[in-house]
Amino acid sequence: MIEIKNLSHHYRVPDGSVIQALHQVNLKIQEGDFIGIAGPNGSGKSTLAKHFNALLIPGSEEGQVLVDGMDTRNYNLVWKIRQRVGMVFSNPDNQIVAPVVEEEVAFGPENLGVETAEIRARVDEVLAQVGMPGFQKRAPHLLSGGQKQRVAIAGALAMQPRYLVLDEPTSMLDPQGRQEVLRTLRNLNDQEGITVILITHNMEELLEVDRLIVIAAGQIIRDAPPTQIFREMECLREHGLDVPEVVKFNGLLRAQGVQVPFDCLTVDSLISFLHS
Ligand SMILES: Nc1ncnc2c1ncn2[C@@H]1O[C@H](COP(=O)(O)OP(=O)(O)O)[C@@H](O)[C@H]1O
Ligand SMILES: [Mg+2]
Repeated sequence: MIEIKNLSHHYRVPDGSVIQALHQVNLKIQEGDFIGIAGPNGSGKSTLAKHFNALLIPGSEEGQVLVDGMDTRNYNLVWKIRQRVGMVFSNPDNQIVAPVVEEEVAFGPENLGVETAEIRARVDEVLAQVGMPGFQKRAPHLLSGGQKQRVAIAGALAMQPRYLVLDEPTSMLDPQGRQEVLRTLRNLNDQEGITVILITHNMEELLEVDRLIVIAAGQIIRDAPPTQIFREMECLREHGLDVPEVVKFNGLLRAQGVQVPFDCLTVDSLISFLHS
């Protein structure tokens, strides 16, 4: 479990002013969940993401982050925490450093001193998990955006994390790459039991998460299943968040007297409702 207790975070900018990026955030993330975190630009999502794996550490009097009981403020535990919580950022080009896919994926475990045979086995395993078996010898810079981002995910998986935090992982990708990455995350959660924390400002990507956390101005304003949150279209709009197309469409149907259930969040489920 990742436990965030009364977490606040401020940045001090050169002109001397202070930006309060997070304010008294409380959150518990259970293992095995697929969690979405949404919020408008500047709401504190990336600041929160960096606290999950000790890239940022709470200041004194600014709360506590516990990863499987390990306090991120304990310097001796930082590497263990970073191993347990994998991170993927939005731009795969900034994350990929090696000229060959297998070297890229092996980078983390090599730094940990894992044995060569074990590394080779892990590379094969995680490339299969992201749907890219056989890509070991390929050059990352020749891959599509979706493939590069899946290589970045494979690199994180090679450290055998329990939690995977992805900060806007699809924002640089075309629709196909976006679908590839989302499908990969779904599979990792379903088949490997990896806890996925998907951060995005794009609500369309969060229709099928188990639990959706909405943050605005550094505070959690909603924490519920998406079926419940998407009932409150006005509230989301007030906070500068867009509502997914299918939710808008359902709203139009309801206004016309068609009683579409609120858990109808995919085109397929809407079609089967309309046929029933
Ligand atoms: N390194 C930084 N220095 C100063 N202010 C920052 C820094 N990083 C983020 N901020 C500010 O903190 C607030 C939250 O930012 P961030 O966590 O990046 O939000 P999000 O990821 O939701 O866009 C914003 O007002 C942003 O401008
Ligand atoms: Mg961000």
